Amino acid sequence: MIAFIGTGNMASAMVSGLIAKKISPLDLICMGGSGQSAQILAERMGIKQAPDLTALLADASTVVVAFKPQHLAAADPRLTILTAGKLIISVLAGKHLARLAQVFPNARNIVRAMPNTPGQIGAGVTGWCSLQKLSPEDQAQVATLLGALGKQFEVPESQMDALTALSGCGPAYLFEFAAALREGGIAAGLPRELAQALTIETLLGSSSLLAHRQIEPEVLRNQVTSPNGVTFSGLKKMEALGFRNLVAAAIMAAKARSEELSKNG
Ligand SMILES: NC(=O)c1ccc[n+]([C@@H]2O[C@H](COP(=O)([O-])OP(=O)(O)OC[C@H]3O[C@@H](n4cnc5c(N)ncnc54)[C@H](OP(=O)(O)O)[C@@H]3O)[C@@H](O)[C@H]2O)c1
Repeated sequence: MIAFIGTGNMASAMVSGLIAKKISPLDLICMGGSGQSAQILAERMGIKQAPDLTALLADASTVVVAFKPQHLAAADPRLTILTAGKLIISVLAGKHLARLAQVFPNARNIVRAMPNTPGQIGAGVTGWCSLQKLSPEDQAQVATLLGALGKQFEVPESQMDALTALSGCGPAYLFEFAAALREGGIAAGLPRELAQALTIETLLGSSSLLAHRQIEPEVLRNQVTSPNGVTFSGLKKMEALGFRNLVAAAIMAAKARSEELSKNG
């Protein structure tokens, strides 16, 4: 049985992904806070809703912790005992393994994961690290659970802030880039609706091509750039205005903020 504490966007995405991968809804149980989210998730996906923490955790071997990071400080102290021997998978942004181990000291193992928003449609990417080396069974369980959101990679905990800055924040950078492409198209004379459609299809097609070919993006870039051609002049302008430096600076700023926010995490 897999238990979910917290039943918002992230837990819902995992539950949908698991059910799409043929995990039985009867093997999933959830509990939210004081709102309606647990009832809504349980009714929508046909999973069980636990009336209390004891019922939630009684038969659970794995516990997904998916409430807001600020709720951890006020977490129910009975979790110490009730999660004994269980695998904990936390998606709480910025909460270190050492901090999680204070709340779940008797857990069989603890995984700290950082998913991203495309996980909502199974197209996410999650980085994760674990307190101790995972047993083969727990490794498989982590792959199933985080795989429900998309791809997953194990990383050392020391890389979690950098990973947050790249793949955690990356969707927002892409959305900003999409808006910039659309605005550029409008400035060049296209109607807004067409510029928006062209932007979406261009990003989608280019991402798919990159994923399909599995080669460096620079190779594909060079393939569509003839010397002194149209693309060449656009790229030259991007270089002159420091596009790469700008993106690198954005990632470094996000990493610094992630380090700052997780300092006490
Ligand atoms: N969304 C993302 O793309 C994303 C990406 C990376 C990491 N994360 C992490 O995922 C976690 C959840 O984010 P979210 O976007 O899913 O949040 P969300 O949609 O706001 O959901 C929060 C959930 O926590 C529940 N909750 C509130 N107080 C609680 C308590 N004391 N005990 C147990 N549950 C409680 C809420 O239940 P009620 O509705 O009943 O109040 C709700 O189900 C966060 O820690 C965040 O850092 C999210």
